[in-house]
Amino acid sequence: MKDRITEEKIERLISQMTLREKIGQLNMVPSPSGEDEAVFEMLRRGEIGAFIMSNTAHAYSEDSVSADEALINKMHRIAAEESRLGIPLICGRDVIHGHYTVLPIPIALAASFDFDAVRECYSDVAREAARDGIQWAFTPMLDLARDPRWGRIIEGPGEDPYVGEKLAEAVVKGLQGDDPSSEQSVAACAKHYIGYGAAEGGRDYHKTEITDYTLRNFYLPAFRSAVDSGVLTVMNSFNEIGGQPTGSSRYLLTEVLKQELGFDGFVVSDWFSVQQLVNQGVAEDEAQAAALSLNAGVDMDMSDRCYIDRLEALVTEGRVSEEALDEAVRRVLRVKFRLGLFEHPYVPVYRQDRAAHMSRARALSASCMVLLKNNGVLPLKKNSRLALLGSMANEKATLLGMWCLDGNPNHVISIAEGIKSKIEEGGAVNGCGTDLSDEQLMHLQWSDAAVLCIGESRYVTGEAASLTTLEISDSDILLAKKAKERGIPVVAVMCFGRPRATEELEPYCDAILYAWHGGTAAGGAVADILFGDVNPSAKLPVTLPRKTGQVPIYYNVSSSGRFVNGYYGEREHEQNYLDCDCTPMYPFGFGLSYSRFEISDISLSQDSIPYEKLKDGGKIKVSAKLRNISERDGWEVVQLYIRDRVASMTRPIRELKGAEKVWVEAGDAKTVEFELGFKELGFYKGDKSFDVEKGKFEVYVGNSCYADLKAELRVI
Ligand code: GLC
Repeated sequence: MKDRITEEKIERLISQMTLREKIGQLNMVPSPSGEDEAVFEMLRRGEIGAFIMSNTAHAYSEDSVSADEALINKMHRIAAEESRLGIPLICGRDVIHGHYTVLPIPIALAASFDFDAVRECYSDVAREAARDGIQWAFTPMLDLARDPRWGRIIEGPGEDPYVGEKLAEAVVKGLQGDDPSSEQSVAACAKHYIGYGAAEGGRDYHKTEITDYTLRNFYLPAFRSAVDSGVLTVMNSFNEIGGQPTGSSRYLLTEVLKQELGFDGFVVSDWFSVQQLVNQGVAEDEAQAAALSLNAGVDMDMSDRCYIDRLEALVTEGRVSEEALDEAVRRVLRVKFRLGLFEHPYVPVYRQDRAAHMSRARALSASCMVLLKNNGVLPLKKNSRLALLGSMANEKATLLGMWCLDGNPNHVISIAEGIKSKIEEGGAVNGCGTDLSDEQLMHLQWSDAAVLCIGESRYVTGEAASLTTLEISDSDILLAKKAKERGIPVVAVMCFGRPRATEELEPYCDAILYAWHGGTAAGGAVADILFGDVNPSAKLPVTLPRKTGQVPIYYNVSSSGRFVNGYYGEREHEQNYLDCDCTPMYPFGFGLSYSRFEISDISLSQDSIPYEKLKDGGKIKVSAKLRNISERDGWEVVQLYIRDRVASMTRPIRELKGAEKVWVEAGDAKTVEFELGFKELGFYKGDKSFDVEKGKFEVYVGNSCYADLKAELRVI
């Protein structure tokens, strides 16, 4: 929300700025070395508005610069005290899911369905990052994704718009806090706007074909939620959509994001994405690339110097208007005022309780891990004799995920360490490694269970890390097979970033825990679950396929005209794949607990509602009874789905419209309530209008997208 006093300050400042100083505010430079006199000179001339504390596009922590407090303060002092107008800089960094205390990767955070906990942990992240001089974090990544071949699926909310909305709100409010001008707040950055996750073939950076209908109903909601949550910045994406690069699309950046959604912060380009318009063949040279981007609505240029080198001539030639330039500067200054940088530009000093951060991170990590299978082998007894197998048993760095610039692998609790910390008198842990020799198989013989810790390197996830196969490696399957053949129960702990195809592994496992890349506390969280100190409660925010060939496969798919077997097994014996069952291995929203729950007694406050009443804010209350029929207290994520049975456009077979994570004591029951209103029942139609269409809606409540507890509702 704009405030008059700030806006007056902004206009006064703009009226004093030279053309060069205005362009300087739109120029973001990579982090300089301490002796980079050329950069310091540019600062004195007011030719830099922001800097990114990172020197690589791919943020693998080994080769990225650290957040150097002295250098950051030097940069701020020169800008504030040695430039003509003293406009403060803003320092950005890829603090994606943690700083010193690293949280699970974002897709895992989505699996927690505990967005209050996510928000609280991101306020811890903001405190740790701000103390190191980071004023701007390039997160949340909100790209809806249906293709796990795409490595960046790990960075986002998965395949559902509702989950994307909730994650966006949690991260933005966690980082920016109730008062973004606080020294312990950090500006968030909703990225990558927009459609980046639809890259053909899962090939990073590649083209997408997304109709406006699909874009508005699937890819846009999370960004709208970020804007409604007050996000201060947005980053445009690398991809084109149907021939139009997002970075040069005035429709997407100005008409939709800024005018329709009302975003009044600033848009920053992705790394060199202005210059890349030349590679994409829509700009002849960097000058044209700069003109296209600025006129489309990209306010700040990240690292490729197109703005600082080209805009002065473009304005003089009239290819970019000074009004357009002023609007970009206005937005950058607005964010700097809202962040309080004019009052406190330097690295703040305050104490922080990292032990509390770590404790919350461990609890959140455990609530992200999805129990996919358990035939009773879990929870393990603490006096068990365990054989520890697999490449991830002692691994640390991988568990931090790929966007981890400031996490320290030495701080990570490995799975082996986590398990050993739980073992009590009479128990034992025998590390058998990754290649079962006959001697090791003898060891296995006396074990009560084998814990098979497998996964993927963080270097094959994230940016520029697409894969053509999602299947589990033969060597990992062989480990499970050998253990199983000896009659040993196998507990698979899967430390993968992306969803994997588990059909070939599953038969050899008595239990499967999808642990993702779980952050600094990952190994402790795994042990908390394996020994029952924590009751697993996570649900899949993304479909797990049987085979790579099924991809893309996602739950909110529309119905085909022929009821051949599909996601919901529409017709048992007619398969549209001749070589694979067409249903997913594990569906969206699925996840087991050590408790057992029953969901019953769905009821609606009314079975019909007039369109006009709905439009005026009328709501339908949906309630259901959740009963814990086990001896174990636990959490259940009760999910509300709808299906718009007949509409002017095809609609999904299921759409998630609510999810409540509810604690129920053993033997107890609770009533869970949801509301359906115009927003939930409506959709963007082919003509870009948003509306509810009269007719029948099916309403489902359950604990996955396979929910079958149904009621019917009519909009009349
Ligand atoms: C990268 C990524 C983006 C990141 C930026 C800065 O290429 O696409 O997510 O924030 O550059 O490192």
